[in-house]
Amino acid sequence: MLEELLTKLREITADAEASLAQAKNEGDIDAVKNKTIGRSGAITALSPMMGKLPPESKRDAGKAFNEAKTKIQNALSEARKKLEDSELSDMPAIDVTLPGRKWPLGRKHPLSQTIDECCAIFRRMGFVAVSGPEIEDIWHNFDALNAPLTHPSRDPKDTFYLPDGRLMRTQTSAVQIRTMEKQKPPVRIVSPGRCYRRDTPDATHGVYFHQIEGLYIDKNVSMADLKSTLRQFASEYFGREVKVRMRPSFFPFTEPSLECDFSCVMCGGKGCGVCKNSGWLEIVGAGMVNPKVLENVGYNPEEVQGFAFGFGLERLAMIKHRINDLRIFSDNDLRFLQQF
Ligand code: PHE
Repeated sequence: MLEELLTKLREITADAEASLAQAKNEGDIDAVKNKTIGRSGAITALSPMMGKLPPESKRDAGKAFNEAKTKIQNALSEARKKLEDSELSDMPAIDVTLPGRKWPLGRKHPLSQTIDECCAIFRRMGFVAVSGPEIEDIWHNFDALNAPLTHPSRDPKDTFYLPDGRLMRTQTSAVQIRTMEKQKPPVRIVSPGRCYRRDTPDATHGVYFHQIEGLYIDKNVSMADLKSTLRQFASEYFGREVKVRMRPSFFPFTEPSLECDFSCVMCGGKGCGVCKNSGWLEIVGAGMVNPKVLENVGYNPEEVQGFAFGFGLERLAMIKHRINDLRIFSDNDLRFLQQF
């Protein structure tokens, strides 16, 4: 009985080793495993014979079983390794002398850079950057900002209305309202973003452009705060030598309203083509927030007041980088974009 068992084990092992030497793929190897040490394999099928052996033979038989199993397992791993190696050597060789691949670096669009730069300057003065929707309702873009019903900017000739009665915002001032509706004073925000107006495109007008809005509401905010904020901005963006001046103006949402000019950065204020020989560049619309606007958002104008300002970002970037046509910002011409 023992002899018979040992012979069978030897046969199965030799057979398995021979088959594995011929194995060409994963499937061949698995088949050998299933046929021998698998759950319904030949070795497994022999184990009941063990029980029938006389007690003195059991030790030898057990040893023989273990040896056979180990041998087959070793042969299986060897076959797997051989297969892997041959797969590797079938791979095409790598030519290490080939030049590397170039990954051209992208750049931030000059307008995005301008937005970042402005936000950073205002952030240092404590202004938080927020954004608002480009599709606005009439309340936020006009009504709450105290724009009279007859105001020309409401005319569909000037503003893009959507079929549902909403509109493409014409100014970032709408974000003033959205912010104050959500937040109690104090408020100190800037909001850069795209605005839309029905203009005929030329070198200084497009159907859309970018503005940045500023709003500061607190107790005891004065015109002096507005002036120092704008002066600080001018000196950080254009340089310390830049002067600012303020002229009376009109906006429905500020009272008093003013326009802030920066001394011309091209000619230093002497007069040139860019400043139309005036020595000054009109940059910012601003003013003290109209008490009616504060009431519209539920603030008490007896308790808090503040200032607001807004200016065009294309114009700012054009002056700083000596660009004479605004359309170039949206042409996607790499020769232009790569200069920034
Ligand atoms: N919204 C104004 C414009 O588009 C600019 C402005 C903003 C003026 C805030 C005063 C205060 O011209």
